[in-house]
Amino acid sequence: MNLSYTESGSLSALPLVLIHAFPLSRQMWKHQHTALADTARVLSVDLPGFGESDSLSVHPSIQGFTDAVVRFLDEKGIDRAVIVGCSMGGYIAFELWRRAQERVAGMVLCDTKAEADTPEARQVRMDAIEGVKSNGVGPVAEAMVPKLLGQSSHERHPELASEIDTIIRDTKPEAIIHAQQAMADRPNSIETLSSISVPVLMLFGDEDAITPPSFGQTMSEHLPQCTLTVIPFAGHLSPLEQPDSVNEAIKVYLASLS
Ligand code: MLT
Repeated sequence: MNLSYTESGSLSALPLVLIHAFPLSRQMWKHQHTALADTARVLSVDLPGFGESDSLSVHPSIQGFTDAVVRFLDEKGIDRAVIVGCSMGGYIAFELWRRAQERVAGMVLCDTKAEADTPEARQVRMDAIEGVKSNGVGPVAEAMVPKLLGQSSHERHPELASEIDTIIRDTKPEAIIHAQQAMADRPNSIETLSSISVPVLMLFGDEDAITPPSFGQTMSEHLPQCTLTVIPFAGHLSPLEQPDSVNEAIKVYLASLS
């Protein structure tokens, strides 16, 4: 199965592979494609079932999503890449490290966490799956758009709310069901953190109501080499909400790798 993707920048530059949050698509990285193209080879993918990618026909799992990303790297002839994951994309970055750390040149974790779901969080996902089966994706958009963006974005950039509302409403119900099941079953990655031997940049919106910066603080206690940068005026989608600050932080990080 081929993943739909966007590519910008020079073929000879360090590859940067951008993995989107739930329930979005590679469209969330449009600002990184323009701003980072002079620094890196920038590739953003639609995870299986999301955006323009076909669905996976196997049991839903973060491992299955990660297999698809590894196949993508193989198809593009990319031996090593800096993996940039936002939220669910971060869960895949952890799995990629466990599965193929030789392919990971660096890691940027945006608005994510290493803990597995609590039983309560898992139940919320099971209920959400039933909700999508009964009512489709409309209620998912209504429930999630207010939470995904920070208050500042809602007030100053209302166009962002309609942008992500459209992305979510265009998402196939089976992709949402698949990803919710995959995230509910995902392993705890706290122990993985101490094995991550590449420098890690963590970016957290200071208005992130889903994964506040305290999750980054927890990860920093386990990661051997990390920087935690809090992005002002951003919520859970900091790369889309405050692209200038995020892009600047990623540029400084990439320069530190070379
Ligand atoms: C995301 O933005 O990818 C989600 O908040 C992840 C999750 O539901 O755990």
